[in-house]
Formats: sequence, structure tokens, C-alpha cells
Amino acid sequence: MVKEIPSESLNPDEFISEKVNDIRKTVLDGTAINALSGGVDSSVVTLLGHRALGARLRTVFIQNGLMREGEPQKVASFFKDLGVKVEIIDAEEDFLSALKGITDPEEKREAITQTFYKEVFGKLVRESKARFLLQGTILTDVDETVAGIKRQHNVFEQLGIDPLKAFGYGIIEPLIQLRKDGVRKVGKALGLTDEYYNRIPFPGPALAARIIGEVTRDKLDIVRKATWITEKNLSETGAFQYMAILHEDRVTGMHNGKRDFGHQIEIRCWDSVDARTAAPTNLPYDTLTGLAGEILEKVPGVVSVTYNVAPKPPSTIEAV
Ligand code: XMP
Repeated sequence: MVKEIPSESLNPDEFISEKVNDIRKTVLDGTAINALSGGVDSSVVTLLGHRALGARLRTVFIQNGLMREGEPQKVASFFKDLGVKVEIIDAEEDFLSALKGITDPEEKREAITQTFYKEVFGKLVRESKARFLLQGTILTDVDETVAGIKRQHNVFEQLGIDPLKAFGYGIIEPLIQLRKDGVRKVGKALGLTDEYYNRIPFPGPALAARIIGEVTRDKLDIVRKATWITEKNLSETGAFQYMAILHEDRVTGMHNGKRDFGHQIEIRCWDSVDARTAAPTNLPYDTLTGLAGEILEKVPGVVSVTYNVAPKPPSTIEAV
């Protein structure tokens, strides 16, 4: 059982020095690798790991082809300014071929997990002879996986999986006692800028969690464009998280006076503190229609835009 540290009783400076010590004690004079996705959790782990290990931590950004527009370059250049070198590893083909033909949500997550940990990361770890992967699993990831709601990509031990046996390396999870609000406090204390520690959460399976049905390059292009427009339009709302989802069903629409059996985008925008429960944000109607208009204008093939008004539960934050 993981013991939660609630955000209210968290002392970020004490937490940081304790975790820095733990990481040093575990890795000893060896090396570790961590995968930075640019999300809050992996950003905080990157800074914590560098404080503990310095140059003995190799930080990589896995370009899995499922990321948001411009994200790899944006993240690498931001961390370069903080003195952390980030290597971008091109693994798009590995992920897209592993996802080919898969429509079931949990099978999609499993394909991403296996590709990431076994293939792409396994190879990196073998090459670099690192014995540890440092990753930003948080308590909400563990809870939902153990409860059987969603198999989060980064949870193993609590499912009885030994990463050393399954993948050949150990996993260090310094944030596992925290929830998102606690992670943000630690990020701030580590010197992460407001833009980063207050970034909206983004899931490990990335845009694959926002495509219903099979993940293909064409669908990724659509959802990536819609995501970019949605984030731009809703960034001032102060909401916890917002996203665009591409549905599998098509609906009849029209373009230039002709019938078009087109795509449907669903917008979700959430108020939440820790992602355990969430409520749809009460967005002004003008904001919604402005956002819909821009998606319909700029994302080819989309003929319908809807807004989800169901809370979590019974909804979940991501659609997959
Ligand atoms: P759900 O959809 O389960 O999401 O209500 C709760 C929070 O977790 C994020 N999320 C994930 N994060 N790996 C992650 O690292 C995952 O597989 C995953 N699935 C969901 C989601 O964006 C939300 O903030």
C-alpha cells in the first residue's frame, strides 16, 4: 500500500531532499534514464533526478508520433534553458505499427505500454547500461489501475509485475505518494516556471487516449489540429484540463452545398483539483461557439463539434 502525502501536509523542500537522498541511495554510483514527456509529472521527476544524479541521469523525449503539435522541440528547448539536455528519440514507427488494427481502449494502452517499456526503452537501457528508469507515476495513476478503471501506462508493481523481470531494469517512482496538486507544489519548489508546473495534465498514451477506435496517422493529424485549437481557445479559462476527442462514428454534414459524411469532435473541459473527480467547466456559450467555429474552419473533414457535460464519475477525464 502506498501511503498518500496529501497536498495540505506536504512540505516541498523536505520532500525534495528526502527523495534526492532516496534516488542517490538506490542508484549508488550507477546511471539512470528518464523519459520526459513535457507533462507536469515527468517534468518534476526530471528536475528531481538531475538534482540527485546530475550528469548520471540521461533524459530522453520519446517521439512516439502521438504527441501534440511542436511538443518535442518545445520541451527540449525549455529544459535546455534550465540546464538539462534532452535527447529526442524517434520511435514513431514502433508505436504506430504496434497500434495498427487495435480498437479496444485497454488493448491500445497495453500496446503503448509494451512498446514503450519493452522495445523502445528496453533498447535504450541496454545500450546505455543504465539500471534504472526514473518515472513520474502518481497516486491517481495507481488508484485507477488497481481499481480496474483504466490500466495507466506506468503502473506495474501494484499489479504484481516486477519491471526487473519483465523489462530488465528497475523503476524509481519518487512522486508515487502525491496527487497532481502536490506534484505542482514540488515543481514550484524545484524552480519549474509557472507555465510548466501549472500546465494542464496530458496523459502518457498522449493523443491515442483521444481517438476512439483505431489510431492512424490520418486520425492523429485531425486530433492534433483540434487539440492545438482547443488548447489555444481555452487556455485562459483556468480549467484543470481540456481536450479534443475524435469519435469513430461519422455523421452526415455538408460542405459547399454537397453531402459530407464527416468526423465528429467532442470537446471536454474539466474543473478538478486532483483528477479523482471532475465537473465540466461552465464555459460561456460564446467561447464554445468560437472554438467550434475555428475547428470546423481549420480541421478538414470535421462536420460536428459537441461539448461533454457529464461529470466524472461516471465519465472519466480522457475518453479512452
Ligand atoms: P481519467 O481519464 O482516468 O484521467 O479520468 C485522470 C487523469 O490522469 C490522466 N491520464 C493518464 N495519465 N497515463 C497517464 O500518465 C495514462 O494512461 C492516463 N490516462 C489518463 C488524465 O489526463 C487525467 O488528468
